[in-house]
Amino acid sequence: MTRFSDHVLAGEPVTADEWRENLLEFHRKYPAATSNAFGGLFDANGRTSYEILADSALRGGRQPARILDVGCGDGTLLAILRRRVPSAELYGIDLCEEDVIAARARLSVGTDCLVVADAARMPFPDASFDLVVSHLALMLIPDVAPVIAEIRRVIAPGGRLVFVTDDPAAVSGDLLEAFRTVYKTLVADHPHLGRVIMADSRVYDSAATDTLLASLGFPAFPEHAGHEIASSVDAEALYQFVGATYFVGMLEDELLERVRSGMSMLCQDGPLRIALPIRLTTVDC
Ligand SMILES: C[S@@+](CC[C@H](N)C(=O)[O-])C[C@H]1O[C@@H](n2cnc3c(N)ncnc32)[C@H](O)[C@@H]1O
Repeated sequence: MTRFSDHVLAGEPVTADEWRENLLEFHRKYPAATSNAFGGLFDANGRTSYEILADSALRGGRQPARILDVGCGDGTLLAILRRRVPSAELYGIDLCEEDVIAARARLSVGTDCLVVADAARMPFPDASFDLVVSHLALMLIPDVAPVIAEIRRVIAPGGRLVFVTDDPAAVSGDLLEAFRTVYKTLVADHPHLGRVIMADSRVYDSAATDTLLASLGFPAFPEHAGHEIASSVDAEALYQFVGATYFVGMLEDELLERVRSGMSMLCQDGPLRIALPIRLTTVDC
């Protein structure tokens, strides 16, 4: 348990620092949690969310020379981009040292290129990348404006920014039922259970994203697209998926066991189909 989980269970306000502490603890406890959870969900064309992002990043036959991944985690997206553009120089930034070490090993790239740092203060020169990507990271930052401003600073004229976030308001069907089950399991003993999402709400609203990007010097009219990635899951896979969320994963063992039982009950008649809506934003500078 972290202070973040404690406060959410008690319905108390949480600070951005507590959220960050929770995020880092989560990634230490569950290495490769995101790539494990999202590497097994596919759209109707058999693409993961990493591949959907890569397709948009390279659309139009782009062959970027220098690519930056913001919140690069264990380097899964950079590895996909390297397969498609072997000549590209790869850079990544992430708060979590353990993940960055894993990314360096996976990509055989050094400490100058894959750095442990806050994306709100990037150690890269102005206009140094012709592609900036970010997969499931920008919605984890309570105030995303300084990060977007840094992206604008480091992206070169003519460069492209592509990012993917989740879309919690659009979750439906069996996945929504799974999250409702988690809520009911916890609220029985924690009746004041509070808000979990720490995102900057602007990333979940296309018009607000456009306004933010424009205010920080990006051209007008970014492109927004919704996609759905899905999989059929048994009880254990469903438990692993809900456990790969930053709040559930950091609960104490006894509560996690109760969540596991809830997922087993949901799957008692067989596997469920979980479908996760994601949002893809693409903007050329
Ligand atoms: C859900 S994980 C996604 C990791 C990777 N992009 C992937 O999809 O496999 C979010 C990542 O964003 C990183 N992150 C969150 N806030 C950050 C910040 N302010 N600066 C740099 N990285 C950050 C986290 O440490 C974490 O590794």
